[in-house]
Amino acid sequence: MTWIGSLYRSALGKKAVMAVTGIFIFGWVFGHMVGNAKMYMGAEHFNEYAKWLRTMGAPALPQIFGSSAGLWIVRILFIVAAWFHIQAATQLTLMNWSARPVDYNDRDYVEASYASRTMRWGGVIILLFILYHLAQFTWGWRVAPAAFVEGDPYHNVVAGFQVWWVSAIYIIANLALGLHLFHGLWAMFNSLGLNNERFNPWKRYFATTFAIIVAGVNISFPIAVLMGIVH
Ligand code: HEM
Repeated sequence: MTWIGSLYRSALGKKAVMAVTGIFIFGWVFGHMVGNAKMYMGAEHFNEYAKWLRTMGAPALPQIFGSSAGLWIVRILFIVAAWFHIQAATQLTLMNWSARPVDYNDRDYVEASYASRTMRWGGVIILLFILYHLAQFTWGWRVAPAAFVEGDPYHNVVAGFQVWWVSAIYIIANLALGLHLFHGLWAMFNSLGLNNERFNPWKRYFATTFAIIVAGVNISFPIAVLMGIVH
């Protein structure tokens, strides 16, 4: 077996995979959040951003099935990263279960298992949310009462969020995303070996700040629509 193969089979290798794929997915989610914030500037700006997304790299890159090759590259990277992230998480969970210590009185152990349970449930909620989200805004399926208008994402988002339970789905999913990011960023620093007392407060500030920004800004969108600020 090559050294890459044996590294990937080790818990350390799987944690490294989770960290690298997590950084990529986080970068994507952060960029998506910044782009979505254009809804505060009005329909024209928001739709222009969505159009840029669909025509990324054009005219140098060709259009394939209605989207530019640039967007397809990002999509494929996103799917590959999500696949390895979930695969490594599942394998780490199975490895932990088969080597579970019996001492439930150990406080650190209870805390760690609470965090990893939250991560697992958070991950499942986020995955279900992404499927619902794509069905609603990208594939245009009838998963919400508002009619889908091809090529007008501003309308789709605003009409979608005007329905309270659709907004509730987004608020709950983004709370789960915030918690997942907080634990994930913290765990990532530890997997990368940054486990020094001196850095611990900074790791906490960093993880807390980014989790609150991403969850807070994303949750502000449905709230702004429900309050009539974005209409
Ligand atoms: C309230 C927050 C969000 C809003 C308003 C929003 C809005 C949108 C819209 C309008 C599109 C369709 C763009 C188009 O086809 O022109 C889209 C696509 C997408 N969104 Fe979101 N989104 C939000 C949060 C998220 C989150 C948290 C994730 C992931 C964790 C996510 C993942 C995606 C993905 C993967 C696509 C497909 C992009 C593509 O390949 O075309 N979104 N989003």
